[in-house]
Amino acid sequence: MKISTFLRWIVTIYGLAITAFGYYFLIKQKWQLEQNYADGNRLIFRRININISKKRTSDLDKTRYKIDWHDYQKILLDSFREGPGEQGRPVVLSAAERINEDQLFAVNGFNGAVSDKISLYRSLRDIRHPDCKHKKYLKNLPKVSVIIPFYNEHRTTLLRTIYGVLGRSPPELIQEIILVDDFSTKNHNKKPLSDYVRENFEKVKLIRNYKREGLIRSRLQGAKTAKAEVIVFLDSHVEPSVNWLPPLLEPIVLNEKTVVCPFIDVIDHTTFSQFAQDEGARGAFDWKLNYKRLPRLKGDKIDPTETFESPVMAGGLFAMNKTWFWTLGGYDPHLDIRGAEQFEISFKIWLCGGQILDAPCSRVAHIYRKFIPYSSSVKAYGDYLSRNHKRVAEVWMDEYKQYVYKMEPSFKRVDAGNISQQLALRKKLRCKSFRWFLEEIAFDVVQHYPIDEEK
Ligand SMILES: *[C@@H]1O[C@H](CO)[C@@H](O)[C@H](O)[C@H]1NC(C)=O
Ligand SMILES: *[C@@H]1O[C@H](CO)[C@@H](O)[C@H](O)[C@H]1NC(C)=O
Ligand SMILES: *[C@@H]1O[C@H](CO)[C@@H](O)[C@H](O)[C@H]1NC(C)=O
Repeated sequence: MKISTFLRWIVTIYGLAITAFGYYFLIKQKWQLEQNYADGNRLIFRRININISKKRTSDLDKTRYKIDWHDYQKILLDSFREGPGEQGRPVVLSAAERINEDQLFAVNGFNGAVSDKISLYRSLRDIRHPDCKHKKYLKNLPKVSVIIPFYNEHRTTLLRTIYGVLGRSPPELIQEIILVDDFSTKNHNKKPLSDYVRENFEKVKLIRNYKREGLIRSRLQGAKTAKAEVIVFLDSHVEPSVNWLPPLLEPIVLNEKTVVCPFIDVIDHTTFSQFAQDEGARGAFDWKLNYKRLPRLKGDKIDPTETFESPVMAGGLFAMNKTWFWTLGGYDPHLDIRGAEQFEISFKIWLCGGQILDAPCSRVAHIYRKFIPYSSSVKAYGDYLSRNHKRVAEVWMDEYKQYVYKMEPSFKRVDAGNISQQLALRKKLRCKSFRWFLEEIAFDVVQHYPIDEEK
């Protein structure tokens, strides 16, 4: 009797001890996991090189939890899709379908007949780096206003852009899509489009210019009406790829002066097949102010999913804090039609305290036209390309503008117009010198495109 009571006590004490140890280990493990998690995040903050003052840290604490934003159900459904152009495959037309091909090519600069054969929502191949496929991003991301200017855009490429944005973005992140019609003359861009938008989309708004303003002022027009805190500019013939949006937004949350560009993939203008141009490059320029791509830096390649700095953005696809956009005065509103705007906004962002990053996990496929078909509608603007470039050189390039004029004397001859407002803005924001930009950010430009020093 006595011995069995004693044994029972021993067993009970052992049991309690084991349970207590079990709890202890569980709690310790959980604590350690959280610790690792916090360290992981701290590492990310360090890598993007922002100064975490005390106030910022508490702001960031609220938003530091990361989730997988992929919609796996949709990805699975997309993988089953079959038909012309699905999975980003090339389309071949039958003889009967080729009747309109030449005419539709001539007015668009791409194969409109092929576009018409492809579903308005089509699946693309996932050509991101494999490490992007489960990468997590902050749970608290801001909503965006997607701004899409267009001029005489082909009906099906425009609608496919909208369906692509809506179909491959988390719905809760899309505040609205703003279409800006730059005074198109094609009939299907007029009332039929208004009707289609009203009947089929809740989040799409259509605003119209009352004369031809060009791409640049149309973007400004869209940004003026945007409601969300972050604006995303897209072209009117693009197809965003899977999970394209979260990688564009996270860097903006971490530093609101960061502007983020997706990788731009190619949609072939003839067959509409989708492919990558390469695995990324840094944007730059030569001294005729042509856009050029420079190799990525060695350090950039350590983590192929991580954003990297780019001196000049590729074109007009980027996400930006709306307040920051307007602090910089948006684009110079006196840039006509198109051309030089990517330099203007890029120089401005870097010189006035921001940064431009390319996000390898965000990919948007874009139809590169064979030619630009709208030359006659912009006659009234004369030599706007030279004028735009001269404005940018005069406002932002300091003593380095002389090298541009030397390489491209036609820029020197045109009248840049009144640039006093742009200069005043540069002064007000205390933007850095172009020399600083060439030394710190675009430091390899002069290696690839030497400055011609002789008189
Ligand atoms: C970070 O901010 C603090 C306070 O604003 C400042 O004193 C410090 O020099 C900054 N550090 C860096 C590396 O910019
Ligand atoms: C955008 O910038 C403004 C002003 O700096 C800031 O108050 C806001 O929180 C930023 N929003 C996002 C989403 O970064
Ligand atoms: C240039 O524009 C500013 C303000 O926009 C104006 O005050 C100035 O008079 C203009 N200069 C000329 C030469 O027209």
